[in-house]
Amino acid sequence: MTTLADSPTDTPRTPAARAELAATFLGNGANYDRYRPGFPLETVRRIAAARGGLLGDVLDLGAGTGKLTELLAGRADAVTAIDPSADMLAQLSAKLPSVTTHVGLAEALPLPDSSLDVVTVAQAFHWFDRDAASAEIARVLRPGGVLAIVWTVPDPRCAWDRACYRLAHPPRDLGDTTGALALGGPVHTPALPGFETLRGEHLQWSEHLTRSDYLQRWGTVSTLLASSAPDRAATLAGMEAILDADPGTAGRQLLKVRHVTEVITYRVR
Ligand SMILES: C[S@@+](CC[C@H](N)C(=O)[O-])C[C@H]1O[C@@H](n2cnc3c(N)ncnc32)[C@H](O)[C@@H]1O
Repeated sequence: MTTLADSPTDTPRTPAARAELAATFLGNGANYDRYRPGFPLETVRRIAAARGGLLGDVLDLGAGTGKLTELLAGRADAVTAIDPSADMLAQLSAKLPSVTTHVGLAEALPLPDSSLDVVTVAQAFHWFDRDAASAEIARVLRPGGVLAIVWTVPDPRCAWDRACYRLAHPPRDLGDTTGALALGGPVHTPALPGFETLRGEHLQWSEHLTRSDYLQRWGTVSTLLASSAPDRAATLAGMEAILDADPGTAGRQLLKVRHVTEVITYRVR
C-alpha cells in the first residue's frame, strides 16, 4: 500500500478475502515492478541498526519483485527471497541474480530452523496469517534474530495522494491514529507472538513521477486489480478528478509524491 493498497490498514478481514486479494499479485509482476515505489536506503540502515549495524543472513519475505531486496543485496552476507508469486520472483531474479529465491508462503517457510539473522517483510505482513507466520519467522531466526516490518503509507501532508488512497480503499478509513498519519506521534507497533518489540520509526521521503505513471501505479494495487473493469475505471476517474482539482497537481504532468516509510523492528524471544 505506498500510498498504496498494501498497508497495515488494508488487511482483509477473513482468510478467504485475504487469499483472493493476495492472488491479484500472481500475474502482475512486470507492472508492479515498473510502477511501484521502492524504499529509501535509510530503511535498511535502520534495520541493520537493530543488530549493531550488521545485517548478516537475511530473508526478504513476501519479497515481490524485490523492491526492498535490492537494497539488501550486497549489504547482507546472503539474501533469500520468498514469495508465493513465481511471476513476481521472476522479476526479482532478473534484477538480482545473487539472491536465492523460493516460491513459498510465510506460514510454511521452506527454510531450516535457526538459519537467519534478519527477516524483512515490506508491504506484505497484512497478507499473512499473523500467528502462523510469526511462529515460522521465529523458527527460522537464530537467537537474537531480528524481524523488520516495513510499510510505506501516505504522508498526511500530501492531501491529494491521501485522497486517492481513500478512493482505492473505500471499505476502510485510514483514520488519524496510525503512526505515519500522525507524524510526531509514535509509530503503531503491534505486539507479535514470540517477539519483543524493539523500535518503530518514521522515514519521510519523496519522489517525482509523471501523472500517467502515478495513475498506472494505482492500477497495480490489489483492490483495483480485484475490482470489475467499470469499478476500476470509476476509481481512476475519481483520482483524475482529485488531481485536476488540487492546487498542488492541477495542470501538472510531473507530481511530487511524499511518502512515509515506517520501520518496525522486533527481536525473537
Ligand atoms: C504489496 S506486495 C509487496 C512486495 C514487496 N515486498 C514490496 O515491498 O514491493 C505483497 C507481496 O506479498 C506476497 N504475499 C501474499 N501472501 C503471502 C503469504 N502468505 N506469504 C508470503 N508472501 C505473501 C504477494 O505475493 C506480494 O508479492
